[in-house]
Amino acid sequence: MIIGTPLTNNAIRALLLGSGELGKELTISLQRYGVEVIAVDRYKNAPAHQVAHRSYVIDMTDVDAVKQLIALEQPDFIIPEIEAIATEALVDIELQGRFTVVPNARAIQLTMNREGIRTLVAEQLKIPTSRYAFAQNFEELQAAVENGIGYPCFIKPTMSSSGKGQSLVKSAEQLQSSWDYAKYSGRVDTGKVIVEGMIDFDFEITLLTVRALDESGVIQTSFCAPIGHLQKNGDYRESWQPQQMSATSLNRSQVIAFKVTNEIGGLGLFGVELFVKGDDVWFSEISPRPHDTGMVTLVTQKQNEFDLHARAILGLPVNATLYNEGASAVVLSSINARGVEYYGLAEALAIPDTEVRLFGKPEAFVNRRMGVALARGKNIEEARHKAVKAANLIVIKEDVLGE
Ligand SMILES: Nc1ncnc2c1ncn2[C@@H]1O[C@H](COP(=O)(O)OP(=O)(O)OP(=O)(O)O)[C@@H](O)[C@H]1O
Ligand SMILES: [Mg+2]
Repeated sequence: MIIGTPLTNNAIRALLLGSGELGKELTISLQRYGVEVIAVDRYKNAPAHQVAHRSYVIDMTDVDAVKQLIALEQPDFIIPEIEAIATEALVDIELQGRFTVVPNARAIQLTMNREGIRTLVAEQLKIPTSRYAFAQNFEELQAAVENGIGYPCFIKPTMSSSGKGQSLVKSAEQLQSSWDYAKYSGRVDTGKVIVEGMIDFDFEITLLTVRALDESGVIQTSFCAPIGHLQKNGDYRESWQPQQMSATSLNRSQVIAFKVTNEIGGLGLFGVELFVKGDDVWFSEISPRPHDTGMVTLVTQKQNEFDLHARAILGLPVNATLYNEGASAVVLSSINARGVEYYGLAEALAIPDTEVRLFGKPEAFVNRRMGVALARGKNIEEARHKAVKAANLIVIKEDVLGE
């Protein structure tokens, strides 16, 4: 790949659809290789807007708006950072053959809808997953649970992320309220929910998997060390790398990740979410992009997940090896307010080998992720302890004199 000069006619341009905290780090990684980055989101001053060369605010679920922007900017690469985008536009754009959708339009379409990816993985690739069924109305849901899925089970909108609309149902009395919750809080109402039997796992991991070219121009798959994580209400709170696991379960995880990413194709980094119990492994879901739990790689790898994604996209060689053990803990807001203030950064950074990233989001909501604390440690226990301590030292307050 020949890299041009940003802001000139020969620039290599990347258009980011979604400009959150992951997009911000990806923008920085791409810019380090001389790429011109255009960041797009549905609201102004999103994290990646603040570091990109240019930014736009559009409705990314609007097919025409996405197509118009691509026509205007003529990017070499279109990089979706979130799931809620008009994937039909990307399919059309890819067919024109002038722009590269990362990793490809089919991957984006398959993974934005739980039905697409689950059916492909379980039925076509025959990879173990939880028991599951799709339901279009309450009666179908009830029948699916009573005739096989059983309790406890998870109900999720087919299109949602970060745990939105998702609930754990322990008994028949809770089924109706879970249906209502999934039906009315999904991102896009596909009219369908997925019900999944609960996997009683020992732990869950994200296996960051990279498809990148080697020196001979052949696609090679590499794996980062497994990332363990803790989820609460379907959203991640802590992650650490490496997660200790048996050689057999690690090998099975890599085989699953290889099969799924090989089927999806394209170049880039993927976050493969897996459940592990003893030597057994189940596929849960996959992001065709950096993963929130993978922010830990900012302090554990020489090439973090954003560097790996940037390098893979640009056709550059990658190295996914772990450098040291580490952990991350999220900084959540406990208030709803615009233009908040952060206290305690100095105290948090006084903990040795600790880093904090504040995303600079213009508006805080209760439980919105506003930052992340990262720590290196001589072992996972120490790293987790430091990351959680640092995250807890950051206090988010309303600016009483502000706005
Ligand atoms: N079938 C299941 N068995 C056991 N635990 C589950 C199951 N489904 C979901 N979970 C738990 O809920 C978490 C979130 O589920 P899932 O990843 O499907 O939701 P999501 O909305 O896509 O979240 P995110 O976008 O943050 O990845 C999982 O990481 C896991 O902890
Ligand atoms: Mg998930």
